Amino acid sequence: MSSYDVTATPAWSALVAEKAVVDATNLREKFDADAQRAERFTAVAGDLHLDYSKNLITSDTVAKLVDLANAADLRGKIDAMFAGEHINITEDRAVLHTALRLPRDAQLVVDGQDIVKDVHEVLDRMEEFSNKVRGGEWLGYTGKTINTIVNIGIGGSDLGPVMAYEALRDYADRSIECRFVSNIDPTDVYEKCRDLDYERTLFIVASKTFGTAETLTNARQARSWLIEALGSDEAVAKHFVAVSTNAQRVADFGIDTANMFGFWDWVGGRYSYDSAVGLALMLSVGADNFRAMLDGFHTMDEHFRTADFAQNVPVIMGLLNVWYNNFYGTGSHAVLPYSQYLLRFPAYLQQLTMESNGKSVRVDGSPVSQSAGGFEVQTGEIFWGEPGTNGQHAFYQLLHQGTKMTPADFIAFAQPNHDLGTMHDLFMSNFFAQTAALAFGKTADEVRAEGTAEAIVAHRVMPGNRPTNSILAERLTPSVLGQLVALYEHITFTQSILWGINAFDQWGVELGKQMALQFEGMLTSQETPDYTADGSTNALIAKYRELRGR
Ligand code: F6P
Repeated sequence: MSSYDVTATPAWSALVAEKAVVDATNLREKFDADAQRAERFTAVAGDLHLDYSKNLITSDTVAKLVDLANAADLRGKIDAMFAGEHINITEDRAVLHTALRLPRDAQLVVDGQDIVKDVHEVLDRMEEFSNKVRGGEWLGYTGKTINTIVNIGIGGSDLGPVMAYEALRDYADRSIECRFVSNIDPTDVYEKCRDLDYERTLFIVASKTFGTAETLTNARQARSWLIEALGSDEAVAKHFVAVSTNAQRVADFGIDTANMFGFWDWVGGRYSYDSAVGLALMLSVGADNFRAMLDGFHTMDEHFRTADFAQNVPVIMGLLNVWYNNFYGTGSHAVLPYSQYLLRFPAYLQQLTMESNGKSVRVDGSPVSQSAGGFEVQTGEIFWGEPGTNGQHAFYQLLHQGTKMTPADFIAFAQPNHDLGTMHDLFMSNFFAQTAALAFGKTADEVRAEGTAEAIVAHRVMPGNRPTNSILAERLTPSVLGQLVALYEHITFTQSILWGINAFDQWGVELGKQMALQFEGMLTSQETPDYTADGSTNALIAKYRELRGR
């Protein structure tokens, strides 16, 4: 991929001029001036209905943002990704998470390999295995059925499965509990394993590389507790399976590769929970629901691949993110699901978006941060959020009246998974109220008209003009979850192309990992160590050793 400087395009200059036009009126005035605004700024993808009319845009803004996408050859880049070109240039890899959800009869040969066949072979093996476990056919070492799954993995080998497990609880076999161990903090594995019935527990060790210190350390600990509890090394074969791209390391760890579910280097960790990395999820919700989720992913993939940019939901949302991050300097982006089942969705999106787009150089190594027309190119926003209405009673104050503008995505479902009287309507009235209050606020005159004492009028003014997207679907189903996740994958990709960066490597996490390995000896040695770090870190480690009694 060649490098590309977004600021050097005529479309960028046009957007610089457009910003002044947009800022000349607020959202109240924009809606007053255009009765069709909500309709004009609505787009549909699969089962997701997006209203983006409460954004700081005009029709011209959208057209100019689409020009920017065309200048970046977004269409060509989408085609290159779906075709399996090696767009992850720093690792010389194809980027084909979209192939994980291709239907069985699709065709895609990449680097001489029929990858659709490979994908479906693994899915079929996962299905066979999960049917055995769920059906009571797979027995533990002492002949008992499995009722607890412990997934050991971190980052992409944890956040996706745990997010989706929580999201699809209503579709789960409730007699099977899943737990997720990720942190190398020993309290994590301790708390998740302290009350296990090992005779009925299946451990999944999930690691793309099978070389991640956290995962291997936790897995070794769990294995030794299992052997201690069941009295034999032979128990491992019945209680440990692996998900990885590295069969040799799986074998070296002591897991029979017959009990390994593979995936491929063209699946990035943060794009992987729809591969075998989702095995815990399949064990929980069953193969049919897992496949329905994959169909949902594919629906969004096809929309992204084929829809015109002006109607393309991931493209529109990605362009809006660039608009705010670069032209308003917003820096952060809230994701606010009005669904308790989507509790872990913001955390999942943090890895997806921030590990992907937290980059400072373009694909040719040149700095991405350029100032042009008074606006600075900044990359990945800080994604964060919590389900509503909890967030309303925590951080929404800042969204409404703080000095910073934070664009937000509100996500909700018309049909509750559990309909308890009018409770869901009450819940949803908050969803609609919040986006309206953020957009339209309350003026000083309106505050005064309520009889507010003049001294506190200013405190009660709600500035409004705060941008939001509203995403509405009928119900949170496996398919809709797949559509939502694919939506954010493609939003992330769109932004990366506009900025000319590689969204598929993560070199920034390597240095800290290497240094942790170097420092370990200084922490554990019985003798006073040679302090080889910097002055601050040496002093901190010395204090740690003192407090630790070394
Ligand atoms: O944190 C860096 C990272 O490499 C992530 O990209 C990845 O998802 C995670 O570690 C876990 O990696 P693995 O699946 O290889 O254990």
